[in-house]
Amino acid sequence: MGIDKKRIVILVSGSGSNAQAIIDACAKGTINGDVVKVISNVPEAFALERAELAGIPAISIDHKSFDGRENFDLALADEIDSVRPDLIVLAGFMRILSNNFVNKYIGKLLNIHPSLLPKYPGLSTHQRAIDNMDQEHGTSVHFVTPELDGGPVVLQAKVPVFEGDDVDELALRVLAQEHKIYPIVINWLCNERISLSAMKVLFDGQVLPECGYASD
Ligand code: GAR
Repeated sequence: MGIDKKRIVILVSGSGSNAQAIIDACAKGTINGDVVKVISNVPEAFALERAELAGIPAISIDHKSFDGRENFDLALADEIDSVRPDLIVLAGFMRILSNNFVNKYIGKLLNIHPSLLPKYPGLSTHQRAIDNMDQEHGTSVHFVTPELDGGPVVLQAKVPVFEGDDVDELALRVLAQEHKIYPIVINWLCNERISLSAMKVLFDGQVLPECGYASD
């Protein structure tokens, strides 16, 4: 007997190319789960159209219409809870979540961040890699904890930075890797192969190193 399919909620703010990769992987069966709702904090996010095209319920909760972060997060949690998800994945979700929200879902919350964490938490990661003349850059999938972009890494992918790269070129190179590694990690969580324990990632019961599953 296999493990039952998991119910996945995706949080987005923008284009939603990662959300698309997750939706496609669920449709193909390479993620043992179903996306049951897509929620955006930005009403005009293209990710909502992608979800609707795939027949997935998609709604926006505009953070601008809330008085304070906690109130937005409470409304977000209500929407999430209404579909009883097993996991919640942040895919280009550009809001900082309150500690109460994170602690409510801890262990079920994944994020993808466009840098080789712990390098470059926060914004403008591609520009910072270029400005620092880094030769490699990349992306990290991590469990979300109250520390911004500070939760333990499950898997990273590296890309080269070429001389003369601009932010758009580098971002596209990173995105191509994100579309590969995020579905892999989500499937691990769906199949209960990874878990968060004492701020470390366990993979099949073994503690992963700080850079996650794969390393040089
Ligand atoms: C992705 O590169 C993701 O890593 C990044 O936003 C992009 C969203 O693209 N997320 C963050 O910066 C979160 N701090 P998408 O909307 O096409 O998936």
